[in-house]
Amino acid sequence: EDIPSLAETYIDYFPMGAAIEPFQTTGLKADLLKKHVNWLVAENVMKPDAIQPSEGNFNWENADQIVEFARKNGMEVRFHTLVWHSQIGDWFFKDSEGKPMVDETDPVKREANKTLLLERLDEHVRTVVGRYKDDIISWDVVNEVIEPGDPDGMRASEWYQITGTDFIETAFRAAREAGGPGIKLYINDYGTDNPVKRDRLYELVKVLLEKGVPIDGVGHQTHIDIHGPTVTSIIDSMQKFSELGLDNLVTELDMSIYSWNDRSDFSDDIPEVVLQKQAERYQELFEAFKEHKDILSGVVFWGIADNHTWLHSFPVNRTNAPLLFDQNLNVKSAFWAVVDPSKLP
Ligand code: G3I
Repeated sequence: EDIPSLAETYIDYFPMGAAIEPFQTTGLKADLLKKHVNWLVAENVMKPDAIQPSEGNFNWENADQIVEFARKNGMEVRFHTLVWHSQIGDWFFKDSEGKPMVDETDPVKREANKTLLLERLDEHVRTVVGRYKDDIISWDVVNEVIEPGDPDGMRASEWYQITGTDFIETAFRAAREAGGPGIKLYINDYGTDNPVKRDRLYELVKVLLEKGVPIDGVGHQTHIDIHGPTVTSIIDSMQKFSELGLDNLVTELDMSIYSWNDRSDFSDDIPEVVLQKQAERYQELFEAFKEHKDILSGVVFWGIADNHTWLHSFPVNRTNAPLLFDQNLNVKSAFWAVVDPSKLP
């Protein structure tokens, strides 16, 4: 019908994407994706535990399904994610005797564990990048390594406790070696608008770049809500990283209808005023994105329609409505706000 395409509307600005599960590659859900986005991301099936559930046992089936769907429909895939502290098999962090590496106190054994962990990481990265390097250009290499509340401002994950920042270096170098100069490598995180977190990430990236670590850009997850953070703080962060010569992507955009510390539930009666507020904020956000297209090279939503979003179960089980299409795959005010504000009621 006469609903314009999101991706076509933005053709002169940047590609538009959505994170999906393999089940979304068939039927009406697939038609919605084909019409509105030109990038796809796997919401879960390319994470370490999905790809290598146990050592040396690689499972490609689900990831391939998304790559195939994209290829058939002329879409691109971005990879999420080679390294993360979550959704990763325990086996990665166990020593040769099956004991958790983090519990080791002997310095000699700790060093051996570090070597073993970095070897496992190197193998994972080379295998995955080797398989998809001709299909996938844009890669989240590491995800969520900054945590301002932890020592050094680095997330105290098993990765960091066992290797320091060496895991980050190893992952980027292995990805570049396996994928060549044509693939683009990103460090991805949430809350990059927060000045403390942003500046810690900036410092980390700067040090790594000086050491020759091949980082091409920053992925800003951008899980926001209808009250915050400000659009200015989001753009300021991109500007800061672009000064380092880095590319910026919005990698996981959604806008909760609740503020971050609110635990209420509108259930199936979301007030119209809330959806209007959401539309206004989406409009403001995309106006700023368009204005800064020189420092922003893609926007990926974390989902496509409100029938499927992680925010139905985070931070509590409740109805949320963070995307541009509703539970029935119909356009919301937020869609018109982004595509053609003159159509807003
Ligand atoms: O696959 C199992 C299934 O076998 C089992 O029956 C079911 C029962 O709970 O769980 C399924 O796993 C779920 C998985 O999604 C796949 O559906 C996990 O419980 C659930 O926790 C997991 O949630 C994902 C979350 O990452 C995990 O941290 C969300 O779908 C996914 O949207 C979310 O994505 C993250 C990004 O990777 C990183 N940035 C934040 C973003 C939102 O949290």
